Amino acid sequence: MNEVKATFVIFGASGDLAKRKLYPALFRLYKKGVLGEHFAVIGTARRPWSDEYYQEIARESVKDLTSDFEVVKAFAKHFFYQSHDVQDTEHYVALKKLADAKDSEFGCEGNQMFYLSMSPQFFGVIVGNLKSQNVVNPAGWSRVIVEKPFGYDYATALELNENITSVFEENEIYRIDHYLGKEMIQNINAVRFANGIFEALWNSRHIDNIQITFAESLGVEERGGYYETSGALKDMVQNHLLQVVALLTMDPPATLADEDIRNEKIKALEALKIYTPSEVATNIVRGQYGEGGIDGRRYNSYRAEDNVNPHSDVETFVAGRLSVETARFDGVPIYFRTGKSMTEKGTRINVVFKNSELGLYDSCVVGKYTAPLQPNVLTIYIQPTEGVSITINGKNLEDNLATDIFPLGYRRPEIEIEQAPEAYEKLIQDALYGDSSNFSHWKEVAASWKVVDAIKSAWTDQSVDFPNYQAGTMGPKAAFDLLEQDGNEWVWKPDVWYRERNLIKK
Ligand code: BG6
Repeated sequence: MNEVKATFVIFGASGDLAKRKLYPALFRLYKKGVLGEHFAVIGTARRPWSDEYYQEIARESVKDLTSDFEVVKAFAKHFFYQSHDVQDTEHYVALKKLADAKDSEFGCEGNQMFYLSMSPQFFGVIVGNLKSQNVVNPAGWSRVIVEKPFGYDYATALELNENITSVFEENEIYRIDHYLGKEMIQNINAVRFANGIFEALWNSRHIDNIQITFAESLGVEERGGYYETSGALKDMVQNHLLQVVALLTMDPPATLADEDIRNEKIKALEALKIYTPSEVATNIVRGQYGEGGIDGRRYNSYRAEDNVNPHSDVETFVAGRLSVETARFDGVPIYFRTGKSMTEKGTRINVVFKNSELGLYDSCVVGKYTAPLQPNVLTIYIQPTEGVSITINGKNLEDNLATDIFPLGYRRPEIEIEQAPEAYEKLIQDALYGDSSNFSHWKEVAASWKVVDAIKSAWTDQSVDFPNYQAGTMGPKAAFDLLEQDGNEWVWKPDVWYRERNLIKK
């Protein structure tokens, strides 16, 4: 691994994300040599911590990742802390002094990675002060990683983008979306473009519909306060889910270079149909969980969660039918669903192909039953299992004219999944190497917000009757009706297993 020399300046250094994700990711990069002795981490936050205390925090966050405590100690010696009020320009003067001193001490050659991991309302003021107080060091490269959410709607995202681009160039801005660091999401390109059999069929002539499920089994837990301001649409759809839609529907890039991939994703996202309010009513479903129980576990209703308004109309579930108006995908429904307190945690994609036009086999035998010929379905398992499978139809053992489903599949072994690099580690490594393939370009963010804003604004005028799905289920009935109207159904039915065993209880 090529070593990268850099000073990190982390805004939000005392936060949960920093402790749970960033410090462990930096530690793994240190262990594998992407970071060597030439790096320093300057953590900033309001709390009055000392360097010693911050180093203790760094050690605590990574101690379970190795049995060698000497490595942990050596790693934490690169950490320094500055108590910082993001509004106070004097603090940036002190920050510059500290950053310059650590740059010389560790030989970071002027390279700087700024990491914005706090409430986005401060991002603009931070980058403004970084510039006005000359914290950005012209001697090396300077990049900024920006955590989500990137704005609260299109207007605030635009304003934020203007603030950031007045200091950093687009190619220095890394808008992070941790789903783009997931191994199987990064695999979508390989599955699509490294396999002639899929590449040739990846269009409206052969694909009947695409189904994307991002199901979470947990409720909002202790994040009720945040979730009340966000809801599932902004929390999951604007970013993670639409990024996956872009990867699945974009045209093939000219090369695998970051710019080529992102250009195609931008085109796909800009081709997403922006719904009118009446189209929102027929194409998008929202839900909120009521109390329920599954497999012996009890769930509160959303309205009874901590820091949630007992009359809240915030959605904890969204499903929809999207339309990508490109020559390749026009007319192919892209169904999605995502929500909290669903049957089980599972992220997967089902690509449903059209049946053969020959019509020679019009029914298949499934066990003892005769059913219509089943479509070929390509499934990409994102998490918790990772893999790819495809169902094909073969001849039934006893009946020459009937077919059975032959499932073919690859599941990555557990041990490989455990040992694979984690999303944040991969993404921070990419940013250190200057590779922005797996980060969102401003135009992607802008296009996503436009789709989401149209849905959100239609909802403000439409009344809801929440709660409308029982915790532990796969969402409200309307999310099933949506597909049924088109003569389709969700391919993935994790709830069926539990219902058959009477494990989903009121
Ligand atoms: C985050 C959302 O971006 O993604 C959370 O804010 C959600 O609400 C999480 O739980 C899901 O991520 P993962 O990696 O657990 O699927």
